[in-house]
Amino acid sequence: MAESVPGDLRPHEIAVNAPPRSDADLWFIGSIHTPWVDRKTSPKKGDAKDGPVCEIRLDPLWRGALLGLEGKSQLQILYWMHQARRDVVQQNPDFGDRGIGTFALRSPLRPNPIASSVVTLERIEGTSLFVRGLDCIDGTPLVDIKPIFCYDEQPERHPA
Ligand SMILES: C[S@@+](CC[C@H](N)C(=O)[O-])C[C@H]1O[C@@H](n2cnc3c(N)ncnc32)[C@H](O)[C@@H]1O
Repeated sequence: MAESVPGDLRPHEIAVNAPPRSDADLWFIGSIHTPWVDRKTSPKKGDAKDGPVCEIRLDPLWRGALLGLEGKSQLQILYWMHQARRDVVQQNPDFGDRGIGTFALRSPLRPNPIASSVVTLERIEGTSLFVRGLDCIDGTPLVDIKPIFCYDEQPERHPA
């Protein structure tokens, strides 16, 4: 059976004529390196406890933005699902055979294909962060790195 490509639609799926891609100016700040080479083998959801260690390679330009991150155990990672189509409003996921609205799903197919995962930070080496809990293809562009809590409410700053 031929592998499906991003352009394919399944029964019950609906796409629209998407607007020109000019609304926002986004900078990719690095790339994510994982064991998965395609969408089929990439897990649906990362495992922050037992998943493989993956590398978030930050562009050295942003090195200074890592200050204060050391010692944190969990981070929220935002990334750009660069192989996802952006015009699908109803999708037919693997479960059930019916159309479901894109905003009711965590599928990578969305108008702005931004994914998010909470990961466990194992270590930082230079501008590389080694984490568990990702679910994206090797080479996926990095959009942002955030702590789970606001800076002034982070448990690390208020030891018991
Ligand atoms: C269901 S999404 C969940 C992403 C994220 N954890 C979230 O909840 O926003 C994960 C799936 O996206 C697909 N995927 C992974 N990397 C991708 C990429 N760079 N472009 C398009 N699809 C990707 C894979 O099929 C993977 O199983």
